[in-house]
Amino acid sequence: MLILGIETSCDETSVAVVEDGLSVRSNLVSTQERLHLKYGGVVPEIACRAHLESLLPILDEAMKTAGITLNDLDAVAVTTTPGLIGALLIGVTAAKALAWTLKIPLIAVHHLHAHIFAAKLEHGKAMEFPCLSLVVSGGHTSLFLSSKETRHELLGATLDDAAGEAFDKVAKLLGLGYPGGPAIDSIAREGDPARVPFPRSYLEPGSLDFSFSGLKTAVLYHYQGLVGARCNVPLPRKELADLAASFQEAVVDVLVEKTLLALRKYPVKGVALGGGVASNSRLRKRLSLALEGRHIRPYFPPPALCTDNAAIVAGLAYYKYLEGELASLEVEAAA
Ligand code: KG4
Ligand code: ZN
Repeated sequence: MLILGIETSCDETSVAVVEDGLSVRSNLVSTQERLHLKYGGVVPEIACRAHLESLLPILDEAMKTAGITLNDLDAVAVTTTPGLIGALLIGVTAAKALAWTLKIPLIAVHHLHAHIFAAKLEHGKAMEFPCLSLVVSGGHTSLFLSSKETRHELLGATLDDAAGEAFDKVAKLLGLGYPGGPAIDSIAREGDPARVPFPRSYLEPGSLDFSFSGLKTAVLYHYQGLVGARCNVPLPRKELADLAASFQEAVVDVLVEKTLLALRKYPVKGVALGGGVASNSRLRKRLSLALEGRHIRPYFPPPALCTDNAAIVAGLAYYKYLEGELASLEVEAAA
């Protein structure tokens, strides 16, 4: 069964063809990073226009790479929520038009559930349910108890900033560019993670929610303590690396601790990781060490499947199709 996936929830336009849920025939991603670079974050209107311009060329390319034509498709799947409303609308409208003209089923996919599916795409039948799923992206930091590919119960989420958002804002403050996650990950390798004791917010005892806004403010105050109230003052490389490493360690400590707390409450055998921040090298290392010691299986996807892409949409859609969860042409995008 060949399913076309379309993903336009944020700043990547992606189209993929996945066979029987797990075999990726094509997965094209056009990133808009360059367009948003000078603003230090995604500008919704620019994102919409860029999706509109790239979608059809990428669709053609995805068909060619998969070696098929539109008539070979059995269903079309699209991210309908959550995301930037205008950006989602481009993908949803395209998917509806394709489903209607090709007379094939339409499948609506939740973006966070697609991020969790990245682990399944990588580990296939070896991935066992139930498991815990930690989704850490630019817009979300959420812990789920996943009973199968299509069922995820929310256990906790961020009360303010998402982890990726904190990475992006700190990187902007430090003049490291956009997106900030990869830049901080890279320079932090040269730094001392224990140099600045930034606060770790665990909220009330037993809480599986997250909060990163206090940490972001602490980094701002620390930076201002070094350079005064001015902005965009470059720090010496060693200072910058120590600051980045200390910030990253504070985020990773909280993510790892909360995952271990959730494991104590819900003793499952595996942990899936997803979302852009899941490609962070320090998080992967620290979490796999913590899980290894407890004989819990890490279901970590490779970095290319962590960030937004349409293969995770088309793959998950196969399991929704098997369960008869189809969408009508009236389905709406929801921010
Ligand atoms: O999942 P994603 O591609 O888009 C959303 O759904 O938000 O995640 C993008 C986020 C950005 O905030 C980016 O800075 C972060 O993922 N990110 C990273 C790394 N690579 C991407 N954060 C930390 N370390 C990384 N290596
Ligand atoms: Zn995402």
